[in-house]
Amino acid sequence: MIKVSAPGKLMLFGEHAVVYGYPCIVTAISERLEVSISKIDDISMDRRFVDAAVRAWGDGKNYAFSIKSAFSGTYGFGSSAAVTVATLKAMRPNAENRALFDAAYKVVLDVQGIGSGFDVASSIYGGTLYFLSGGKTIDPLEIQNLPLIVAYSGVKSSTVEMVKMVREKRNKYPDKVDRIFQAIGTLVNQAKKKMLEGDWERVGKYMDFNQEYLRDLGVSSEKLETLIGAAKNAGAWGAKLSGAGGGDCMIAFVPPERQGVVKDAIMSAGGQVVAVHANAEGVRIES
Ligand code: PMV
Repeated sequence: MIKVSAPGKLMLFGEHAVVYGYPCIVTAISERLEVSISKIDDISMDRRFVDAAVRAWGDGKNYAFSIKSAFSGTYGFGSSAAVTVATLKAMRPNAENRALFDAAYKVVLDVQGIGSGFDVASSIYGGTLYFLSGGKTIDPLEIQNLPLIVAYSGVKSSTVEMVKMVREKRNKYPDKVDRIFQAIGTLVNQAKKKMLEGDWERVGKYMDFNQEYLRDLGVSSEKLETLIGAAKNAGAWGAKLSGAGGGDCMIAFVPPERQGVVKDAIMSAGGQVVAVHANAEGVRIES
């Protein structure tokens, strides 16, 4: 029996544009998903029945799984990537991170058909990453203590549907949408620099700009705007949606002394504040 855990993630900057070759910044969060697997081979019993059963209905069913997730009830933390990464790691505990990324990204693409793989990388490497689609670049950023507040909008969103919607928009208005992607790409590089300097006030401003671009892309929602507005009015440095949009989570960067007030404001506006820490450790073997 082996138990492996992998963290959830939050997109800090660059969603959607990352699908078209621009960079993004993602951080792993303290909420983890745990996969325990045991090979049926390990169970001491008369193997003939198990072997015969596997031969009959075989199809990968020679493992017994148990999955425990701290993300249940909150969407957008990347449970598909985390469960894929943890399961593969449980089957090959010695796999290198790069091999694990390539295998997990392939699984996610096979099942979901779409995606940059930023969530897979975050689950494996942990910390905060500067990332290019398909793992062309996976650069850990030396950052501590992100002053982050996270709230779930209460609305579940479909990443695949949102990505398809943006693709249709791009087919219809290629110049406009490509200009937005380019602007987001520039912003991500500026945000990276200021994050490394710990200039959170400026990083907050960049969050606001990123949110404007996401609004232009049409992926924000009334609920997200309400929560973002509430955070800003209560003194956040900046706030934006995180991930595909349409629902799921919003994030805010908030000065330490305003954290309580901002959380209250978000909750009064109907958001569910989730107590998570950023920059969490990547996939690991628990036992
Ligand atoms: O909805 P999430 O949290 O999985 O984020 C999706 C981010 C996109 O850039 C829209 C898609 C992707 O795979 O990068």
